[in-house]
Formats: sequence, C-alpha cells, structure tokens
Amino acid sequence: MNERRTVIIDCDPGQDDAIAILFALGAKDRLDVRAITAVAGNVPLSLTERNARIIRDWAGRTKTLPVYAGCPRPLMRELITAANVHGNTGLEGVQLHDPLAPVAPQHAVAYLIDTLSAAAPKSVTICALGPLTNLATALTEAPQIRDRLREIVMMGGAFFERGNITPAAEFNIYVDPQAAQIVFSSGVPIVVLPRDVAVKAPITPARIEPFRAIGNRCGAVVADIMAAEVAYNKGRRGVEDAPMYDPSAAGYLVDPSMFKGRLVNVVVETTGQWTLGETVVDWNGRSGRAPNATWITEVDADAFYAALHASISTLP
Ligand code: RIB
Ligand code: CA
Repeated sequence: MNERRTVIIDCDPGQDDAIAILFALGAKDRLDVRAITAVAGNVPLSLTERNARIIRDWAGRTKTLPVYAGCPRPLMRELITAANVHGNTGLEGVQLHDPLAPVAPQHAVAYLIDTLSAAAPKSVTICALGPLTNLATALTEAPQIRDRLREIVMMGGAFFERGNITPAAEFNIYVDPQAAQIVFSSGVPIVVLPRDVAVKAPITPARIEPFRAIGNRCGAVVADIMAAEVAYNKGRRGVEDAPMYDPSAAGYLVDPSMFKGRLVNVVVETTGQWTLGETVVDWNGRSGRAPNATWITEVDADAFYAALHASISTLP
C-alpha cells in the first residue's frame, strides 16, 4: 500500500504513548501525522499535553505538529491516573526539558470537529492511545464526523489476557467506560490492539539495546523508556519484561500485515460493580450483535521491533 495515511493521534503521554508517537512520526513514508490531541489519563491533562509537546520537540516537529489539549476528566467518572506506573511527570525514566512551543489555543474536541467536518469522507484515521473521552465527546457533539473517519485504531481493552487495572478491565477503557461504549457503537470502523496482543510483543532487555545503539536522541529516549517500563515490571511482578501497549497501535498503522485478528462484536460494561470497563468480546459470534471491531490477537514480534527500530532511526 503506497498511499500515506492521514492520522490524528489522541493520547495521554505516558511512557508508551511517547514511543508510539515517535514510531508514527518516524514512519513518514507511511503516515502523515497532522496533529496530537491530549486527554487526561495516565496523568492529568496539564501533564499529558505538556508531554505531547516535549515528544514533538524530540522528533524535531515543534513548528509543524500542533498539540491540542482536550478533556480534563472522563464523561461520568472521576479521573483515575496511572502515575504510579508512569511517574509523577508521566514520562518516568527520561530527562525532560521545558516544551519549546505552546499548546494550540483551540480545545481538542473543537479541533477534531472542525478538522473532520472539513475532511473528505473516510479520509482521516484516529490513533487512540488513551481514554476515549475526546473522541466520544466529538462524536456526540458532531455525529456527522463519523463518515469522515477511515478508521479508529486504538490501544485498549482486554479479553483473553484479562485486565491490568482491575481483574476485568484494561486502563484506557476503565478510566472512561462510557466514552468507550460511545466509540464502539459509533459505526466507525475500529481496529483494537488490546492487552491480548500487547503481551505478545513484550519489551525485554535484549530488545532495548539496539535502540540505544542507533545513537540518536530518539533512540536514547525509547531505550530509556523501555528500560523504565521493564524495571517497573521487575519490581511489580518480578519479571524482566513489559507489554508493548500503545506502540502496537502505531505499528498496526505502519504495517497492518504484522498483525492478525478477527471481526467481532465488542461492548463495554458501564455499570458492573466488579466488571466496570470490561470489553465483552463476542469471539464466537454468540450474541447476535453485529460485528463492530477487528480485535487483534497476534503479532509478528520480530517484524514489529524491526519496524519500530527502522522508524526511530529516521528521527533526530
Ligand atoms: O493499559 C495500557 C494503556 O493505559 C496504555 O495506553 C497506557 O499508556 C495507559 O494509558
Ligand atoms: Ca496511553
């Protein structure tokens, strides 16, 4: 496929968001990343939008990639963060600088609505890497934008692998389950990179050093973040590896042939006392509900890391 895909990245940076954003920005031959929209999630919005601006500086895109700040909290719930994982800055493990340029003045939801309303049908892909509050709000306020979207490619959910924030739920969905249900019922084509596939391309110490060996700033950043994620998991679970969450979604955009999945129906539990935020995947077609998402469960891990390495090598 030679055409470049037009992409808006909606995210909550976040260590793995940072790697995913750099992955997408380095794949200039495949992806035309137009903007980053930040949402509250891993850390509060004031930090996720700041971190997004730091990441674009690392990629040398300060003047050519706008960052918009979006929703500061979920639709219905109080915000819960993952600062215990990503650190109080949201980018634990990396030396940070003050962003070189300000955040765009427009609210991210207004930007999404204005941009998509002016776009050609099925022309824009949303790469969603955090809670889906911004996207759900835009879809609710301006339903007409649905047919301007080519796809929503998102990291979120868990089915075979079970949850990471609760036994039943993955963090992005759990933070804003109502937003997730709005997105899954939007009718927009969706590709989900859940925990099920993130654990099949794990970060290991052997996979870190080739990035440091690239010798550029972004290679060092990626290696530092990966090392911090592995160190966290070693301390938390006693194992020296970490799931490759958000970069799996970027990897799918760069080369979908590295992945395999199934077209299924997915609904989100929005009321369960013990199962709030669970993604209920009708893997065997028992529900009678129409399929609404491609649920990815397999990845060629070696090809994924080769693609990530090639992309990071193109950056400053
Ligand atoms: O469960 C993993 C997801 O939650 C990733 O997007 C990570 O950045 C956190 O937001
Ligand atoms: Ca994220």
